[in-house]
Amino acid sequence: MQAARNIHNLTLVGFMGTGKSSVGRIIADQLHYRFVDTDELIEAQQDTTIAEIFGKQGEAVFRQCEAKAVQELAAQTGLIISTGGGVVINPDNLASLKTHSLVACLWATPETIWERVKEQTHRPLLQTADPLGKIRELLAQRAPFYRQADVLINTGLRSPREVAQQVLHQFQLARARRS
Ligand code: S3P
Repeated sequence: MQAARNIHNLTLVGFMGTGKSSVGRIIADQLHYRFVDTDELIEAQQDTTIAEIFGKQGEAVFRQCEAKAVQELAAQTGLIISTGGGVVINPDNLASLKTHSLVACLWATPETIWERVKEQTHRPLLQTADPLGKIRELLAQRAPFYRQADVLINTGLRSPREVAQQVLHQFQLARARRS
């Protein structure tokens, strides 16, 4: 049986470039909640960048830092949490986030994602000869995990503000259902 959930937070999951941080900041402003980004938290805790952690210590160490950040945030309330695109591949992360959050997944096609991220250089997983191919491959691998979110929101052709309104509506519905 699934444990009862108290929805005190909103967590945004989804692939790189789906707009989690932009959307999360808009919602946090509207609700006067605190906005937290797991990548920013990890960078502050480790006093370095995500790219450096990947480059010097490897992805496995980054995933450990990510799991620790999720554990810390899952225990707090009144947060809008934006997560790194790979957070869902560890089932424990999703399970602990779901205890206090509505988990909304932002979705986009590989081509849309590529259009949004192609000028950026800070994501180690996309520093390859064929980044669009890598996006397709990772998105296909991760799709079953993203589908485990409470709500799935398509962000294609929508501005962050429009997506934020849709997510906010789902959050308010979820909180009303559980109060
Ligand atoms: C990752 C996504 C990144 C960051 C890291 C790994 C991933 O976050 O956590 O580079 O595995 O998809 P964004 O989704 O915010 O770009």
